[in-house]
Formats: sequence, structure tokens, C-alpha cells
Amino acid sequence: MRHFLTLKDLTPVELQQLIARAIELKRMHKAGEIFEPLKNKVLAMIFDKSSTRTRVSFESAMIQFGGSSIFLSPNDTQLGRGEPVEDSSRVISSMVDAVMIRTFEHTMVERFAQYSSVPVINALTDDYHPCQLLADMQTYVEHRGSIEGKTVVWVGDGNNMCHSYINAAEQFGFHLNIATPEGYEPSADIVSAAKANISLFNDVKSAVKSADLIVTDVWASMGQEEEQKKRESAFADFQVDSRLMALANSDALFMHCLPAHRGEEVSAEVIDGSQSVVWDEAENRLHAQKALLEFLFTH
Ligand code: CP
Ligand code: NVA
Repeated sequence: MRHFLTLKDLTPVELQQLIARAIELKRMHKAGEIFEPLKNKVLAMIFDKSSTRTRVSFESAMIQFGGSSIFLSPNDTQLGRGEPVEDSSRVISSMVDAVMIRTFEHTMVERFAQYSSVPVINALTDDYHPCQLLADMQTYVEHRGSIEGKTVVWVGDGNNMCHSYINAAEQFGFHLNIATPEGYEPSADIVSAAKANISLFNDVKSAVKSADLIVTDVWASMGQEEEQKKRESAFADFQVDSRLMALANSDALFMHCLPAHRGEEVSAEVIDGSQSVVWDEAENRLHAQKALLEFLFTH
């Protein structure tokens, strides 16, 4: 049995195959082909944080695959009233075929996985967002071909998305320039495990030179709402605008996992402009996660 808690739970070869499969599943879906490999299978979806894309994509994926899903929020489960993660894991995993979790502490998904009898998928923690990276890698490949050897630039907060980009740099073989304000760097442990593929910058203009892909994310993630004002001033020089895009390669793409704040981390001109592939990126959550579900159900 396999879990998907970070991108490192799959080998580089498995990840490449998964992206290729996501592209194929997308083609099949667009062609109207009915493909129901997960008939009668059930996915439990535990959400301790809000979601639009993750919930809709996993739920649609299960329905299109012939299975179904159960949405579990802390307001309605005993988990939300303090039932131990270990007990909840044993019980929930005895009744369903896979479990997807979006929560705060990454150790929660690790503890859940340890006691689970079925595959566990990390659908975002404070530390990682690996499902989003599957969609991002699929989107890059669809637009530009292989990402191996390319230069990707992360602009903004050294957050969960940034950490998953660090894992992706290693697993997909690209170089990642990370431009953050001082004090907002990614975790030193995660960086040091991938240091051959990473360069850290505090000057965003130097970081974006020769970029093939520029990626950013919100300045205050879920759970950091009270830091919004402080972060707005710390990140003021880190907006991805058209002047910054102009310093990158002329065919550079722009990605953002969404939801976005136009006028903060990205200008409206960039996110709504011709280099932005954010709508494909969002749609690919569906296709990439179908490939992930198929992989986990057959390994
Ligand atoms: N990108 C992403 O995970 O979006 P949601 O928070 O809407 O699921
Ligand atoms: N870094 C953001 C990503 C949202 C999909 C957050 O954790 O809120």
C-alpha cells in the first residue's frame, strides 16, 4: 500500500508516468469516454481548512471514475471534538478505500497514514501541497514539454507550495530560484535536502532572470490571516507584475495555485494576461488527481 503525503512518496519515474497518464485521462474525458475503474470505491475527504478546487476535483474525479466520496468537516465529525487521529484513522480506513486530508499540522497526516489500512493523500498541510504540484507539472508539460533542466522561479512566501516546489525540483530535475523577503525563507531542512537544485534570493529581480516559469502564491496562507497586514508590507516588493515578467524569458509561463489576490502577490495584468496558464492549472487538478487515485488504487 502506498500513501501520497509528499512528492517524495513516488519515484521520479512514477511521477513522470503519472503526468503522462493525467494527460491521457484528460484526453479521454474530453472525448466523452466513460472510464469507471473505481466502481463502488469510496474516498473519505477530511477538510480542516476551506477549499474550492481540491474538493470539487476529488469529488468529480471519484464520480467520473464510478465511485463516490464522503466530505467530512471538523464541525460534524468526532475528529473535530478531539477523538484521537489514530482512532479515527483505524475506524474511517476500515470503511472506505482511500482517505484525502487537508489540515494544519503535517504530522497529523503522517499519524493518520501510520494507522490507516488504506492509502492516504495529503491535500494540503501547513508544510506541503503535493497534489497541486502534479497539476502544475502536467500544465507545464502540456504547454512547453519536459520541465527537466528548466529554470523555475518561486516568488513570495517560503510556504507549503514553495516546499512542494522544492521537492518537485529534485523529483522532476529542474532548477528552482526562490525569492522571498528576509525572514520568509522556506524551511532550512527542506532546502538542504535538495540544495543542488535550489538557489535562494532576497532580490526578486535577480531571481527571475532566465526564468521559464514564474510561480507565486498568497502572502498569508490559511491559518495566517492575522498576519495579513504585517505580510502586506514585508512582501510589498514581491508582486509579480508585467515589469517582473519582462525580465524572464520571453516564453515564460505564469502559474498560481489559486485563490489569488490581484493587486497583492500578482497584478491583474499578469494573472489575466497571455503568459498565465492558471485556468489550465486549476482544471488539471481534476486530471492529475484521477491519475493519482488510479495509481494508489492499483499499487
Ligand atoms: N489550489 C487549491 O488547493 O485550491 P483550493 O484551496 O480551492 O482547494
Ligand atoms: N499557501 C496557500 C495555498 C492555498 C491553496 C494556503 O496554504 O493557504
